[in-house]
Amino acid sequence: MTRKIIIDTDPGQDDAVAILLAFGASIPGAPDAELEVLGLTSVAGNVPLDYTTRNCLMLTELAERTDVGVHEGAVAPLQRKLVTAEHVHGPTGIDGIDRPDPTTPVASTNAAQFIVDTLMSTDDVTLCTLGPLTNIAEALALEPAIVGRIRELVLMGGGHFEGGNITPVAEFNIYVDPQAAQQVLTSPIPTVMMPLDVTHKAISTPSRIARFRELGTESGIAVAGMLEFYHRYDIERYGMEGGPLHDPCVIAYLLQPELFSGRFVNVEVETSSDLTMGTTVVDWWGGTKREPNTTVMRDIDADGFYDLLVDRISRLP
Ligand code: BDR
Ligand code: CA
Repeated sequence: MTRKIIIDTDPGQDDAVAILLAFGASIPGAPDAELEVLGLTSVAGNVPLDYTTRNCLMLTELAERTDVGVHEGAVAPLQRKLVTAEHVHGPTGIDGIDRPDPTTPVASTNAAQFIVDTLMSTDDVTLCTLGPLTNIAEALALEPAIVGRIRELVLMGGGHFEGGNITPVAEFNIYVDPQAAQQVLTSPIPTVMMPLDVTHKAISTPSRIARFRELGTESGIAVAGMLEFYHRYDIERYGMEGGPLHDPCVIAYLLQPELFSGRFVNVEVETSSDLTMGTTVVDWWGGTKREPNTTVMRDIDADGFYDLLVDRISRLP
């Protein structure tokens, strides 16, 4: 059975690789297609919304998947001013790719409405969120009944043992829209969280990047170009061997959950303190007795993860 997904995203080079991974696992007509991508929904995050939408369109053209609609979403978080991350991703969000501007038009339905319409009309849809959770919170406000219609929500966000990446304690996606994140995490939606504790173990080392370039395809070369741009930040700032490939962990979890391990625990988000805004308070040891609400991952088989990425991306043009 193929798994139906919506990808909510703010590309971002790592979002781009996640989207290409999903396209590689959902080739139309392939007898072994593992996923069906029902749509992409863009959100402001790494860069402003006009760029994240454009980047989604560019990626559908690169993968020759313009049959997948790109639905434009929230231009700003629910309550806070937008914080962006050009210092990591470059001014376009996907610097390192060499493509013309897309010509495919954006879909007529906006992101929140598309999410609601799809969930209310289609059983068993999984939401994959790779950016701030604004669109999902807006969809919940539009139609609260979607809560019971979501098969699973798998999100990249948060951190616990590893601390934060935008502040000492907060991870970027949660920090940008903590109110939206708190609404989603405390709703009854079955949720899996891929925090920095996992993604900081999924490092795009030079030899791993070379495997994409060696594919010799346009997609493989685009992935290598984007990751070469993206990983300079983590090498310079943290002395890491490469950039952490955060968002593809979400899609990889759907394809090979055995690559990951974690625990079902309680998670709440700090939404008021300036000092710790956007922190995911993960009750890993069960000390608070608050009801578990999220499966929080902690470990990854990084070599298996890169094997999966290279294999599925090798199926693209
Ligand atoms: C998350 O923030 C963005 O910079 C990445 O695309 C990822 O979704 C990592 O903190
Ligand atoms: Ca992202």
